[in-house]
Amino acid sequence: MNIDPLAEKITVYAGGVLPPSRYEHSLRTAETAAQLCRRFGIDPAKGRLAGIGHDICKTASTRMLFTLSEQDGVPITLLEKEKPSLLHGRAAAVMLRTDFGVDDEELLDAIRNHTFGRPGMGLLAKILYVADKIEPGRDHISKKQREEMFLMDIDDMVRTVITENIEYLKKKSREISPLTQDLLRSLAVTDNTGTLSPVN
Ligand SMILES: [Fe+2]
Ligand SMILES: [Fe+2]
Repeated sequence: MNIDPLAEKITVYAGGVLPPSRYEHSLRTAETAAQLCRRFGIDPAKGRLAGIGHDICKTASTRMLFTLSEQDGVPITLLEKEKPSLLHGRAAAVMLRTDFGVDDEELLDAIRNHTFGRPGMGLLAKILYVADKIEPGRDHISKKQREEMFLMDIDDMVRTVITENIEYLKKKSREISPLTQDLLRSLAVTDNTGTLSPVN
């Protein structure tokens, strides 16, 4: 897999299908993920590709979301049936593999799981999960908070993002995915003083 030309193709595709705000979020997520990759010793090009590709199915039709997601071999959950937009990560992973030839499993796993996370997710998946929520366009987080988060280890970053997201979902009386709860439980327990506001 030749990552740079692929990232270029995916960037062009994302720019064509996504509204400008979502496209720009993807570019910022890509840059944030690349920065985190550098910090944690992963090829930044992988983080960049994960960021640019993670939301390419965000505007896909419900039918397309189901058609693509059904190909990954995992049953569609009740929560996903009720809210098909939650399938956009799974659908994107299938599309990137079949239409763009992405064959890096770590990368596909990161994209597949960027919405809920999952216990046992790898470093790149954690990086994308965090980058998606703290990229500079997310105005619930100040520059200072972002800088503080950048000093945390990756599990503390993930925990901070999830804890705040759960608070947000509770306030809105929305359901918390069991996968996200399992991910939180799977992380080692430490003090959490993060004060982020959550996003989805
Ligand atoms: Fe997303
Ligand atoms: Fe996103």
